Amino acid sequence: MGGLLLLRSHAFSAMTHSMAAQANTLNANTLAPFVDPLPVPPVARSSGMRPLPASPKTRVPYYRLAARPIDVKIHRDLSPTRMWGFAGSVPGPTLELRSGEEVLVEWVNELPQQHFLPIDYRLHGAEGNPQVRIVTHLHGGFVPPESDGWPEDWYTPGRSLTYRYPIHQEAAMLWYHDHAMGINRLNIYAGLFGAAIVRDHSEDALNLPRGKYEIPLMIFDRLITPGGQLFYPSSDKPRAPWTPEVFGDAILVNGKLFPYLEVEPRRYRFRMLNASNARFYHLSFANGLEFHQIGTDQGLLPEWLGVKKISLAPAERADVVVDFSDSRGEQIVLKDTSFNIMQFRVSANKVSDESSLPAQLRPVSKIAESEAVRTRLLTLDEYDSFTGEPVLLLLNGSYWHDPVSEKPVQNSTEIWSFINPTDDTHPIHLHAVRFQILDRQHYEPTAYQLKKEFRFLAPRVPPEPYESGWKDTVGTHSKMVTRIIVPFNCHPGRYVWHCHILEHEDNEMMRPYEIVPA
Ligand code: C2O
Ligand code: CU
Ligand code: CU
Repeated sequence: MGGLLLLRSHAFSAMTHSMAAQANTLNANTLAPFVDPLPVPPVARSSGMRPLPASPKTRVPYYRLAARPIDVKIHRDLSPTRMWGFAGSVPGPTLELRSGEEVLVEWVNELPQQHFLPIDYRLHGAEGNPQVRIVTHLHGGFVPPESDGWPEDWYTPGRSLTYRYPIHQEAAMLWYHDHAMGINRLNIYAGLFGAAIVRDHSEDALNLPRGKYEIPLMIFDRLITPGGQLFYPSSDKPRAPWTPEVFGDAILVNGKLFPYLEVEPRRYRFRMLNASNARFYHLSFANGLEFHQIGTDQGLLPEWLGVKKISLAPAERADVVVDFSDSRGEQIVLKDTSFNIMQFRVSANKVSDESSLPAQLRPVSKIAESEAVRTRLLTLDEYDSFTGEPVLLLLNGSYWHDPVSEKPVQNSTEIWSFINPTDDTHPIHLHAVRFQILDRQHYEPTAYQLKKEFRFLAPRVPPEPYESGWKDTVGTHSKMVTRIIVPFNCHPGRYVWHCHILEHEDNEMMRPYEIVPA
């Protein structure tokens, strides 16, 4: 790092963005809450069957999803907001997928030539390249490398890429989102994401609430100008507009600001996703109603858990069943620690509920540590500079373009140990695989930095009960070592792992990795 950079030891300068935000944005809390009904994104419709390029005798469902500008009415009292969405909606249409089937999705770029959010041309991938570039990744999908949305495989308006998704995984809520190198924080902020739900027979047999009683809740925060437009803050350096984290005070669910949902007094299943760039949510019902958490990022837990609070880092999902049967006639607010998210209006009439919430959901066998063939120690780094340059964030001291250093063997199991000396929780995501969290442990960062020596300050703590299933994103907490155990049971090839705070990801907190054939 030369002598110019200093490991960060203090929190990000929250001042810079909140000041910029104040000057240009509306205070979302001055808008009337709960005046718009919650929208539910449409289900993506296949436009027929197409032959698979590699085996033309096999025909599979084909979808065409085009990214286009759209104007979204996010609140009754605001003029429509210019966004970019797939197939005319933000979030885009929900892909309904079944385990064992295969689909083709043509991701089309029908965007204009110019971006409307502030590009930082210093960032890797943005230098000298066209402003508008997209490439779509299916987050949580175990897909072949050539369909994974490699960040440098972006393409410009007028072009498309057709991806093949063989679905060899258990029921879970995945999501698709942009992954273009150096600008995906802007493309996702603009609206380029949507849900993808994988279903399977064993989940069907549980008879969980379904149809109109199963609703995705995709939560994302934005800053809005007084004219109702998206505002993405910039640093105070015109040459380097990137800011380390962006937080908005307008919290949208499925594209509406503080919406309401009319529900019947019965069980509902909500598929919750934190689709924010950087904000973490700590969700609870204002009246203390419980969530029955049934699943995490990668599908069902072994048994449901009764919880009052659900924490979601960017890209994490929680699958919950909420029973409104004792809340007839009530209005219940879903809130974060300090603000409201949405409202549920429970009707007063009695209804029958034919759905179930079985005690046993699916077996999740714990992977023994002894199954791991190796352990990798990986640091999460933030550097301050003496020269007034922006913060630098790296994974294990390496840049994106440094040679691939993580090369797990296909079908082998490894432990990845994330060492986090910073003041932030970084949600770390690995493409193409699912994993289990082993534990977290407080350690003393200076001894490790200077001598690569571990001084642990407390015993290992197991994952929270709600993190105990299969995951694809893990909150690696400040001043802790977080260990995950990962079976690399995917197609061989190049994938990526990264921090899912999108501002970090776009500025070098992303690395390639390669699954090598056994
Ligand atoms: Cu949500 Cu690299 O992905
Ligand atoms: Cu992913
Ligand atoms: Cu990060």
